[in-house]
Amino acid sequence: MESATGTVGGWWLFAVPMLAKQGRSSLAEAYTNLNGVVILVVLGVISACALLVCWARPGGPAWGSLKGKLTIPGPRGYPVIGSLMEMGGLAHRRLAELAVIHKATSLMALSFGETRVVIASEPETAREILQSSAFADRPLKQSAQQLLFGRAIGFAPYGDYWRSLRRIAANHLFAPRRIVAHEKARLAEVEGMLDAIERDVKATGWVQVRQHLQRASLNNIMSSVFGRRYDFASGSEEADQLGAMVREGFELLGAFNWADHLPVLKCFDAQNIHQRCAALVPRVCAFVQKIIDEHRERREAHAGESYETDFVDVLLGLSGDEKLADEDMIAVLWEMIFRGTDTTAILTEWIMAELVLNPHIQLRVQAELDAVFGKSSTISSFESALSRLPYLQAVIKETLRLHPPGPLLSWARLSTQDVCVAGHTIPAGTTAMVNMYAITHDPKVWSNPEVFSPERFLPSEGGQDVDVRGNDLRLAPFGAGRRVCPGRALGLATVQLWVAQLLINFEWTAAPSTSVDLTEILKLSSEMVNPLQTVATRRRPMCESS
Ligand code: HEM
Repeated sequence: MESATGTVGGWWLFAVPMLAKQGRSSLAEAYTNLNGVVILVVLGVISACALLVCWARPGGPAWGSLKGKLTIPGPRGYPVIGSLMEMGGLAHRRLAELAVIHKATSLMALSFGETRVVIASEPETAREILQSSAFADRPLKQSAQQLLFGRAIGFAPYGDYWRSLRRIAANHLFAPRRIVAHEKARLAEVEGMLDAIERDVKATGWVQVRQHLQRASLNNIMSSVFGRRYDFASGSEEADQLGAMVREGFELLGAFNWADHLPVLKCFDAQNIHQRCAALVPRVCAFVQKIIDEHRERREAHAGESYETDFVDVLLGLSGDEKLADEDMIAVLWEMIFRGTDTTAILTEWIMAELVLNPHIQLRVQAELDAVFGKSSTISSFESALSRLPYLQAVIKETLRLHPPGPLLSWARLSTQDVCVAGHTIPAGTTAMVNMYAITHDPKVWSNPEVFSPERFLPSEGGQDVDVRGNDLRLAPFGAGRRVCPGRALGLATVQLWVAQLLINFEWTAAPSTSVDLTEILKLSSEMVNPLQTVATRRRPMCESS
């Protein structure tokens, strides 16, 4: 009979000749060696069986070690790695498909290697997760930790330090009065952009708006946070250095790092993420520290005098429990550059792409803007005119719906205690994600979800007035709950003003022999694979006053 005992017994056939040759002590050694091999084989078989049992549960291997019946449906994926392979490419689309296949749109369980994950693809479950205090933490990826983000708002653990940072940012950077006060700077930025666009069109006949939007976005954040802006066109070394650091940081933070989910891979650094982060951090620290030091010197030199302050001055002025160490300040300031730059530029590019593809919608927005601002090529007090621009706002909402910049809300949440969601128990330490893309493309939630139709947000035309700031989970591109995006009002104010100015001044059509390609790529945000190339034809000369 072939049994474990039989197998153990069988080694004698092999050992006897060895005994004859090497004597008694060698026999004992061989016995020990072979016994070791057998033990290893048995252990291997047991582990493989345990792995298979774990893997066989819905949701895959990371859910296997849990006691009790798992009630959340989901794909098993592969042994050990679970569903890690699904996270390459357009993960939001693949996860949406998987949720349908597994009848798990309410809540789906998956494993990313050792990480237990749940994903909500319906508004109700999304609300339960995002608004629950049990999910007010975030999992900290290796790159985020290395790049200092563990001490910044986005990744700081839920607690006093995080609360204090959010309060400071809410009062001094994102407060409505600050946003209104910064309108002039936003306007100056877009005017610079209009000039650059015009130069490009004159030189080549067309323009790629992305680089102009990225530069304007970076300058916009740099001016409100650091009180400085750069002339990218004149080739400033500092501006190039900053641009390169931001690009590198985006890539590193946006990369899906397998080692975050299979810790055994950490020592190999196969994706070269650890090494690249280690090289970037000292450059970032030196860059931001220099700005902090300059602000310190200015504060000392102008003590007692009044001068225009920025967010760095605010941080330097903190005292008592709120006072931040320089390293924490660097983390907070650096994060603002990150979060504030790509999202606004990416969203504006998507909006312009849809308007080039839909000329009748572009014309309607222009007509609305003309009715409000007359023949002026620049606008002032834009904030107060917004209520008279419902169609512009509807276009922005529709773009956020069709192309949410963070289709998986960019940053996941982490449960800090066992919690019940949609009738299922989710254990502490589970990563939770919301597939906003799945929700905004669900025909049960939105009629004709693939069609770009801003009218769906106009109550006067049978549509609904949906609040995109986190109160209505059918369209929550800024997240919701305690960790909702604190920069949403600033982001929206910037995008609204810039799109208005781009449309007031130019008519936008596709560049010759190109078509608008809406194919997306998921990095830190979801952006157009092929940058938008357009012809911008002046509607009216610059600086014409009404
Ligand atoms: C179109 C523009 C923007 C979009 C679509 C966007 C989207 C998001 C999303 C989806 C989250 C995660 C929310 C959650 O977990 O519930 C987030 C968090 C965050 N965003 Fe934004 N964002 C935008 C603009 C900005 C701007 C302009 C800033 C700052 C200058 C900013 C700063 C942050 C920060 C600091 C967090 C982390 C909040 C926390 O964990 O407490 N965002 N954003």
